[in-house]
Amino acid sequence: MRVLITGTEGQVDTSVKALGEKLGIEVIRIGLPDIDLSKPETLEAPIRAANPDVIISSAAYTSVDKAESEPDLARRINGDAPGELARIANVLNVPLLHLSTDYVFPGTKDGIYDEADTPEPASVYGATKLAGERQIAANTENFVILRTAWVYSPYGNNFVKTMLRLGESRDELNVVADQRGCPTYAPEIARALLTVAQKVVADPDPGLRGIFNLTGSGETTWAGFAEAIFTNSVARGGKAVKVNPIPSSDYPTPAKRPANSRLSGDKLYSIYGLRLDPWPTSLAQCLDALATAQQ
Ligand SMILES: NC(=O)c1ccc[n+]([C@@H]2O[C@H](COP(=O)([O-])OP(=O)(O)OC[C@H]3O[C@@H](n4cnc5c(N)ncnc54)[C@H](OP(=O)(O)O)[C@@H]3O)[C@@H](O)[C@H]2O)c1
Repeated sequence: MRVLITGTEGQVDTSVKALGEKLGIEVIRIGLPDIDLSKPETLEAPIRAANPDVIISSAAYTSVDKAESEPDLARRINGDAPGELARIANVLNVPLLHLSTDYVFPGTKDGIYDEADTPEPASVYGATKLAGERQIAANTENFVILRTAWVYSPYGNNFVKTMLRLGESRDELNVVADQRGCPTYAPEIARALLTVAQKVVADPDPGLRGIFNLTGSGETTWAGFAEAIFTNSVARGGKAVKVNPIPSSDYPTPAKRPANSRLSGDKLYSIYGLRLDPWPTSLAQCLDALATAQQ
């Protein structure tokens, strides 16, 4: 199986490349400067040239706050480009896997969100990602959209690396404690993506297609996550840092974040038999990987 994934330096594309190497699956990454998702009309030729069995759409405009002031650019990258990838996948007769986000929901539900809940984004980023989902569905039936959340890994920029970096120069950190979600380890996303890819390449069953949630098992708050990060770090010889829980109102940001980002993984489990590891297990693996990278 030859997998083409958008993105060359991102958390998920790097994790998919690494897992592909382990499993003997060919993974081709394409990204800037060779392809620019803000120019969707330029995508077809390089994708045709790669001759993939499956396309994974991972690269995105992921600066949630900056998107509030760059809505047109964010919409081209997160909305139009996935739509064009779906059109190309349809022409090439290959499946398209696409990563979307918990931010398609407003976060006002009492319980855990499932795939049947109505999206109603509260931010430009969320709205552009929802536009991407809709453009994909308009251009191909052969798609799997996976909504993930709170992604972290040893690669790129993420909350775990930010906390550890800030903790080097501070003894205490104020962290938001009224947003709940499911931290998701990018190598776990990679495991799910390659499993789903293998199944949809081999099986045209429409039941394998559609929208699925894909997050680490369990839930916490950003403050709870931060505490676990420093507990893990201390166990590996790192510095102790006190986490002070604060309300979101004490940490204003340009983009509104959902208070409830929890996504149910039951549909993915029932159809694919896939459930991501509990987030504390994955967090420990991430801290081990970061420690190894520093040696
Ligand atoms: N990170 C999260 O917490 C989170 C949560 C929910 C959903 N998701 C979704 O999961 C997917 C993967 O996220 P991630 O954390 O791996 O993202 P990431 O680490 O921010 O990587 C994004 C990638 O997209 C590339 N990119 C940005 N603009 C581009 C353009 N115009 N043309 C081509 N490539 C471009 C970036 O390239 P450069 O580095 O060169 O700019 C980077 O390689 C995204 O679709 C995101 O929306 C992420």
